[in-house]
Amino acid sequence: MLEPEQIVRLEQDAVVLLDQRLLPGEVVEVRCGTPVEVATAIRTMVVRGAPAIGVAAAYGLALAAVRGDDLGAADAVLRASRPTAVNLAWALDEMASDPSPEHARAIHAAEVERCRQMAAHTADLLSPGTRALTHCNAGGLATGGYGSAVGALLTAFERGLLAHVWVDETRPLLQGARLTAWELETAAIPHAVIADAAAGSLMAAGEIDCVITGADRIAANGDAANKIGTYSLAVLARHHDLPLYVVAPSTTLDLGTPSGGSIPIEDRDPAEVTARFAARNPAFDVTPAALISAIVTERGVHRAPYAESLSGAVAA
Ligand code: MRU
Repeated sequence: MLEPEQIVRLEQDAVVLLDQRLLPGEVVEVRCGTPVEVATAIRTMVVRGAPAIGVAAAYGLALAAVRGDDLGAADAVLRASRPTAVNLAWALDEMASDPSPEHARAIHAAEVERCRQMAAHTADLLSPGTRALTHCNAGGLATGGYGSAVGALLTAFERGLLAHVWVDETRPLLQGARLTAWELETAAIPHAVIADAAAGSLMAAGEIDCVITGADRIAANGDAANKIGTYSLAVLARHHDLPLYVVAPSTTLDLGTPSGGSIPIEDRDPAEVTARFAARNPAFDVTPAALISAIVTERGVHRAPYAESLSGAVAA
């Protein structure tokens, strides 16, 4: 398993990121010497995943402070780098009062600790022999260490509860086929990558027991934005009477946003889908709370009605 500082770290003169665009084929680091370079790395997905981009932004602001840069300008450029994951704004809000490297490192360490707590709570929901389906990458790469949905799978495997993981390849950028599969292989967890469109038929065949995903932003009513395709999985899971568990830290909760309709959804370059024809590339979708069996944060397992159960769970 990757150590947190192998994924994202602050050195004296740079934020250093493992280049997730090249994994698993090449293990290469990118050095960002300015906050603008950190913002570019977030936008171009050198680093990606909701908590990980929050951590990278926190380090970016700390780098600005060390360099004596204009902190307002650094905050603005980092904040604008990607719109959907609320962890980015959360981390920058946290850093506003104390933009020191120590504070950014403490934010990073706290995210990893939240992952371990969420993982334990989620594993409590699973029975021996579980065959889980996951989408995108909600692993250590996405959180800065250990992972949310994949962290839950790691803990479930350690407890002897997990038999197999189905990994949605996650078109168009293949976070599942490249990153989640790599993390599961490293942990020696039995897994198989499937085309995104294969999930329904595997559910119908009785080969999936539950769906476990992360989230990028969860509204006050429990509606959850996550990687495009999560909503389709949620509809399929409901049709086949399978639970969908959303595993996300309290830093992903946005209780100021009443429902999913107000969550900004990133539209990325259509060329990521196809460069040959006209294309549309929404990067996230919103799963209505009614399709979510439980939201698991570091505080525990939250059930509907989420307006009540999430209200006490915001990040300290
Ligand atoms: O576009 P990405 O790769 O940043 O999207 C990431 C996801 O959708 C993850 O599922 C989400 O951030 C949760 S990560 C713990």
